[in-house]
Amino acid sequence: MNKKRFVAFVVLLGAVLVLGFTAQAAFAQQLTAREQLGKNLFFDTDLSEPAGQGCVSCHHPDFGFAEPDQFLPVSEGVITGRFGTRNSPSAAYAVFFPEFTLKGGIQGGQFWDGRAANLTEQAKGPFLNPVEMNNTSKAQVIAKIAVSAYAAQFQQICGPDAFALANTEAAYHCMAASIAAFEGTSELNKFTSKFDFVQRGMGAFTSQEALGQALFEGRGKCAHCHTSKVGGGLPVVFTDFKFHNIGVPKNSEFPFTLLPANFVDLGLGGFLSDPRQNGRFKTTHIRNIELTGPFMHNGVIKTLKQVVHFYNTRDVLPPCDPALGSLDPNFGTLCWPPPELTQNMDSSFVGNLGLTDAEENAIVAFMLTLTDGYMSP
Ligand code: HEC
Ligand code: HEC
Repeated sequence: MNKKRFVAFVVLLGAVLVLGFTAQAAFAQQLTAREQLGKNLFFDTDLSEPAGQGCVSCHHPDFGFAEPDQFLPVSEGVITGRFGTRNSPSAAYAVFFPEFTLKGGIQGGQFWDGRAANLTEQAKGPFLNPVEMNNTSKAQVIAKIAVSAYAAQFQQICGPDAFALANTEAAYHCMAASIAAFEGTSELNKFTSKFDFVQRGMGAFTSQEALGQALFEGRGKCAHCHTSKVGGGLPVVFTDFKFHNIGVPKNSEFPFTLLPANFVDLGLGGFLSDPRQNGRFKTTHIRNIELTGPFMHNGVIKTLKQVVHFYNTRDVLPPCDPALGSLDPNFGTLCWPPPELTQNMDSSFVGNLGLTDAEENAIVAFMLTLTDGYMSP
């Protein structure tokens, strides 16, 4: 978002926190006409082919705007049995990722590999993706909006002639930009977690949470990538906006079994067709992480305890049974399958942290303070 809007956003946010949660509901309704249109589009499940799936199906507000199914590692498209190859990330707080850039170190962008420059470009994808909303053309999407309950609102924002076939390209762009505008609002970017209250001096961590925060920033080395302190009054979104290979193992579960046995997700290296970047994925923000499992780009890790155990012991535990991979019953406690790709793998900050079981639990407790909707006692 631009600076002026951001300042307005922060000022309003402050007011919200002071006035409390009833005011928050009122604030949340203060959408501009374009944001409201974006909201209608985001929640509309009639814009797929056939009808039945919308952005909300894989990015649900009750689940931190990620996939509601906490077990399925990747989402199913509107056509039964069609799966993508990646776990649905949170669409909340995604607005804070800067545009993808190669200058001065690769950073930003949308998707696990940064391949969409920004939210507007991102929103153009799912409608036409055969493993998602499966429309065959932009015109098909616009024709569906033309018969929706908010068709008049669409014309108001995108132009009276938006439904003319000759204007399809412009209308499609306007649709995506409206969704992006909605994704920039306080409905997705609430900043109402316990962490936010504590930061504003309006609450206190338990001793376990405080220990977890100290470890997150200290011996756990998490904050090296999930940035937890930023200056200049900017909000904390727990990412350096960069790409790293943390050595995530292959996922052996269904529906990965539908993929060719030699399937490897190259991440950033695949997007850039540059083997020097193989295995790198975007550092996700971890706000609302309690609600957005399973974890990592392929959903191979199921619990936050396992996440921390992975960072702590990736290079320490023996390998799992190669025949079972991530389905080994000892996965995530007593063994890890090898990393899917070892190129560019980080071993300075990840893999052998020497944390005790209680210290792992404390880091989990700290991450549980990042869930929005905290009610101060
Ligand atoms: C079938 C499930 C599904 C549907 C429907 C879907 N998404 Fe996604 N979304 C995903 C997956 C999976 C990814 C990650 C894909 C990747 O990285 O290649 C993703 C990524 C994203 C991201 C990137 C977040 C980040 O941090 O990089 C945003 C934003 C997003 N989706 C918004 C939307 C919007 C807006 C719509 C509707 C137009 C939508 N999604 C429809 C599954 C879905
Ligand atoms: C070297 C950088 C780096 C360090 C250090 C690091 N992370 Fe991550 N983290 C990442 C990246 C990159 C991903 C996404 C990796 C992937 O899916 O391949 C990630 C993913 C995650 C996820 C899953 C996010 C999701 O939406 O699925 C959690 C939770 C997480 N990290 C927590 C932690 C904690 C806790 C620590 C410290 C114990 C930590 N991270 C240390 C870079 C890092």
